[in-house]
Amino acid sequence: MTILSKTGTVTVTLDGSNKSASLPLLEGTLGTPVADIRKLYNDLGIFTFDPGYGETASCDSKITYIDGDAGVLLYRGYPIEQLAEHSDFVEVCYLLMYGNLPNAAELAEFKKGVTYHTMVHEQIRQFFSGFRRDAHPMAIMCGVVGALAAFYHDNINMTDPRQREIAAFRLIAKMPTIAAMAYKYALGQPFVYPRNDLSYAANFLHMLNSVPAEPYVVSPVLEKAMDRILVLHADHEQNASTSTVRLAGSTGANPFACIAAGIAALWGPAHGGANEAVLKMLADIGTPDKIPQFIAEVKDKNSHTKLMGFGHRVYKNFDPRAKIMKESCHEVLAELGVKNEPLLDMAMEMERIALTDDYFVSRKLYPNVDFYSGIILKAMGIPTSMFTVIFAVARTIGWVSQWKELVEDPSQRIGRPRQIYTGAPARDYQPISNRG
Ligand code: CMC
Repeated sequence: MTILSKTGTVTVTLDGSNKSASLPLLEGTLGTPVADIRKLYNDLGIFTFDPGYGETASCDSKITYIDGDAGVLLYRGYPIEQLAEHSDFVEVCYLLMYGNLPNAAELAEFKKGVTYHTMVHEQIRQFFSGFRRDAHPMAIMCGVVGALAAFYHDNINMTDPRQREIAAFRLIAKMPTIAAMAYKYALGQPFVYPRNDLSYAANFLHMLNSVPAEPYVVSPVLEKAMDRILVLHADHEQNASTSTVRLAGSTGANPFACIAAGIAALWGPAHGGANEAVLKMLADIGTPDKIPQFIAEVKDKNSHTKLMGFGHRVYKNFDPRAKIMKESCHEVLAELGVKNEPLLDMAMEMERIALTDDYFVSRKLYPNVDFYSGIILKAMGIPTSMFTVIFAVARTIGWVSQWKELVEDPSQRIGRPRQIYTGAPARDYQPISNRG
């Protein structure tokens, strides 16, 4: 563990006893101080309770920082706004993985390392024929990425930094290839091999959109838009899928299996599945005049309806990614010549109403990254079922970097939370004849 200056203590006293514990107060480079509770059980015989880990730091990390109240997101200290404007996805991958921006030689070497691994083993193709054509591509991603563990199991020695690096390269490089294969499989079109002369984003678009029957030229507008989507989704500190990857990684599991676990966690509509859910929500509402009725339903606690693309566990202000995505959305639609996009109009009207409605204002519910990303992806001709897959392609570098950080931390232990047991007290087994 890298630490963290000890800036004070917190004293916890157990009421009704003379016991108390002095807990060190630790501070990272930025952010809220944390009380180190590791001695609490020894000193007081109690655990802490924090379902959903809303107030618990599960690790120390140098990768990504979020200030949810101020709406700030930094990758390795660099503001997301600057990276979205000046950098590109592969450079951001280097930054997240190694901690600093590369020089020209380092970037060229890194690109070579990643592009070398873009193809998948030919036997992987056969996995696809085992899936139904109408399978959700995220289900296919969980299966196929997990299956990579079967291809690279024996030759991964995780104590060897070079082998960890190659596993990371393989994951970053092969994700777009597998994602595009999942898409092509649903369409019934042939799989398209990667082209290493294209940029990461352009190659991904090429594998998604080209067919052998005619030439396909990647539009620079779409390439830039895809690259920006990848940059914005690349990492987000200890979110549900990243924590899943870390938890799986803490057992020493194969890295491909860990990333498959992350994909499964990302799929849920409360997390990465929200971008797909936003489009479904807008389509279900249908027309702007139905928005007030929908908002009333969201505010009715008995309805269990959520305004998808709004709210965040950490951001209690605008999600900075949503701001960039909103600008990007207008740019992309303009450059693609989409004059009237009813979904965008609906989204903007929804945002306007929600940002002035006391229900959302008092709960600090702002648009998150998923509110606008789906509209851009739809304008780019990508079907809704692929939205979360694209999120997974982007987030792979975050998962891989966090996995690497975990594995390289000599103080890391298996992740193993506690619980409050609320089940039956100890009781004796009864033969079936005695069970009423
Ligand atoms: N629509 C309506 N009410 C909401 C929403 C929403 N989208 N989000 C939160 N609330 C309400 C919630 O019902 C609660 O109200 P009350 O205090 O009266 O009980 C209050 O706001 C606090 O919410 P919470 O459930 O404690 O918040 P959380 O931190 O547990 O959940 C969230 C965060 C992202 C799961 C949730 O806001 C949500 O489900 N949003 C919609 C799904 C979504 O857009 N997810 C994408 C997140 S960003 C991308 C990513 O990380 O993958």
